[in-house]
Amino acid sequence: MTPVFAQRHLLGTRSLTAPEITDLLDRADRYVAVNRSANKKLDVLAGRTVVNLFYENSTRTRTSFELAAKRLGADVVNMQTGASSVAKGETLIDTAATLNAMHPDVLVVRHHDSGAVSLLSQKVNCAVVNAGDGKHEHPTQGLLDALTIRRRKGRLEGLKIAICGDVVHSRVARSDIHLLTTMGAEVRLVAPRTLCISGAESMGVSVFHDLKKGIADCDIVMMLRIQNERMSGGFIPSTREYFRFFGLDREKLACAKPDALVMHPGPMNRGVEIDSDIADDVERSVIREQVEMGVAVRMAVLETVTRNLAQERGEPWEKTK
Ligand code: NCD
Repeated sequence: MTPVFAQRHLLGTRSLTAPEITDLLDRADRYVAVNRSANKKLDVLAGRTVVNLFYENSTRTRTSFELAAKRLGADVVNMQTGASSVAKGETLIDTAATLNAMHPDVLVVRHHDSGAVSLLSQKVNCAVVNAGDGKHEHPTQGLLDALTIRRRKGRLEGLKIAICGDVVHSRVARSDIHLLTTMGAEVRLVAPRTLCISGAESMGVSVFHDLKKGIADCDIVMMLRIQNERMSGGFIPSTREYFRFFGLDREKLACAKPDALVMHPGPMNRGVEIDSDIADDVERSVIREQVEMGVAVRMAVLETVTRNLAQERGEPWEKTK
């Protein structure tokens, strides 16, 4: 079946429609079963090349994209550029042009500057997937969060979802907000004033500065990491004080619905935004499941953009497999 999402690049969730999201999640859902079976190797992307170009450190996202591409039968090249030494602008474009000359089918790019991946996508003729650009977007994280929630709760529409913590520095929060509000969820941001997005209400969310009030009656409590590497000064007085007011522990979680699920995109700062007791509670925490869903979602995305690329090039998909 032709994918509903018809673009060659996946740069963000902001422009995704509800039918496009639903179709991507349905496709990912089917790959969950493949990933749980003994033989995980498919030939959907046989003969194709996926390049992971990461200008920022990453454990789960890079591994997840690599596994996803390999399970679909693609050849994968990982380029770890080392964040600080790479000059911006021209060098990024030069690197992209160099890689493009080697005819990859998909470039998966993570970069520390918001907008860098979009710029790069205009300079290449392969497909580009944004694996996180600065504070801007991280669309596959948004999709994997949505898949995790949909599988557990059976729907997204009408759910009360609190995104809590360092919202202002979080591309995960931005991608989740666009995606979850598009799917009809009621999204709340819960953060200290210094870590909240100003004018967030215009994104269709409500804003709270008190964790207990913010998560009251919620179905999902999503915690975010304090992103020290994106802070230049005193956004929080101390981690101990932060934990006291904004760290999720059992007492505060009791304000959410009794069956509320706890999420975190990782990596976690235990004892800062989340208590280990909650993070490791298999009855409440779906943090490991999020990682599992990540591979399935990336398989769906890689398949979709490669198909769309083939379509754009006038190559019949079946024959190119
Ligand atoms: C997130 C990221 O890198 O944006 N992690 C991830 O991709 N799983 C969140 C974070 O770094 O805190």
